Amino acid sequence: MRFLKNSKLLIIVMAFILVLSACGSNSTSSNSNSNSNDEEAKTDEEQVTIVYARGKDATGATDVMVEEFMKQNPNIKVEFREMPTDTGAQHDAYVTMLNAESSEIDVFDIDVIWPAEFAQAGYVLPLDRFIQKDGINMEDYNQGPVSAATFNGKQWAMPKFIDAGMLFYRSDLASEAPKTWDDLMAQASELKGQDGTQFGYLMQAKQYEGLVTNAVEFVASYGGEFIDENGEVAINSPEAIKGLSKMVEIANADFVPDNITTFTEPESHTAFIEGQAPFIRNWPYQYSLANDEEQSKIVGNVEVAPLPEGDAGSAAALGGWMAAINNYSEHPQEAWEFLKFMTGPEGQKIDAIEGSHAPTLPALFEDEEIIEANPFFGEEGFQNALEGAVSRPVAPNYPEISEIIQINVSKAISGELTPEEAAAAMEKEMKEKLVK
Ligand code: GLC
Repeated sequence: MRFLKNSKLLIIVMAFILVLSACGSNSTSSNSNSNSNDEEAKTDEEQVTIVYARGKDATGATDVMVEEFMKQNPNIKVEFREMPTDTGAQHDAYVTMLNAESSEIDVFDIDVIWPAEFAQAGYVLPLDRFIQKDGINMEDYNQGPVSAATFNGKQWAMPKFIDAGMLFYRSDLASEAPKTWDDLMAQASELKGQDGTQFGYLMQAKQYEGLVTNAVEFVASYGGEFIDENGEVAINSPEAIKGLSKMVEIANADFVPDNITTFTEPESHTAFIEGQAPFIRNWPYQYSLANDEEQSKIVGNVEVAPLPEGDAGSAAALGGWMAAINNYSEHPQEAWEFLKFMTGPEGQKIDAIEGSHAPTLPALFEDEEIIEANPFFGEEGFQNALEGAVSRPVAPNYPEISEIIQINVSKAISGELTPEEAAAAMEKEMKEKLVK
């Protein structure tokens, strides 16, 4: 009797173990089939699935990076989670998720303006122990983005690529790039309507983060700034007002689309690759897209130049993205392996060749294949734009500062406020809100 009782128990325990192990293999791999043979079951058990989140990558570079990583790391499956393209909407989606301490994503891209906020909120994992263990030398990286991701002496993200606002122009329509904003206006008026174009110039003028970067460029090209080097609000100056006035004039010109205040990067890059305008202000990825035969009607006809000059010269806004690990990730080690690949030389090379993303590892600017894919990376104008790129105000409550700029610049564009009134309103509101 006793034996019978024990063997019954054994059977129950074994059945239980079987059920548990079946559940286990399902949860470690989302595509686990029924265990058709032992080997497959083993692979399923060993494979860890991590989720990588970022905005839509119109260039396709991310797919290539993910594929290459999985080829080299068969034990890690990377699932892609597409987030809103608009950086502000993407930010809000992460904040909602991470405030709830969700582990649904493991690795995610963060805009250069977020690290301080995300570190302080405890959303991201400090990377120092991984960096040390794998002997990564942070001095190999461009120090601008490295310090943007350093907060309280720790490294919270690894730089992926640097962005700087540039002028892209159709070499088949314009013989040379306009040198000043006034030259741009003259050429845009003249070329609008030629060779199937409908507009002269494309920019990003919707009320969102991209508007801030366009405003930073206009203001800085006339010698103004939003916040000065001592951290004081400086937007209410004659120089800044001149820059804002030029921005308002161009956003209301008859050579930009009537609905330019609905344009973010995708609306503007799409119009450009469809051949609708000779000039666009955008980030470097525009180059790869313009030369993508599957999407673009202007392949081979695009050149890159610094943005036009105001009284004080040409100015590019500093942008860019980094990769971080969710503090609540259940797979931090695997997340790190993927992050390390993406932000290391191999991942950045793929991103530069496939997506025209400017590397944060300066040594990669010597790489022949990268320069062949992006001849403008090797040009002085581009290197100067990267080096001199103007940061947006640095503050742990940056989203509030950005909102003040977005609202008031939008009101200036719509004519609800004059540029002078918009500058005075921004000065007042930023002084109230800026946390140093
Ligand atoms: C680009 C930049 C980013 C910026 C955004 C604005 O993605 O890299 O820094 O905030 O554009 O739209």
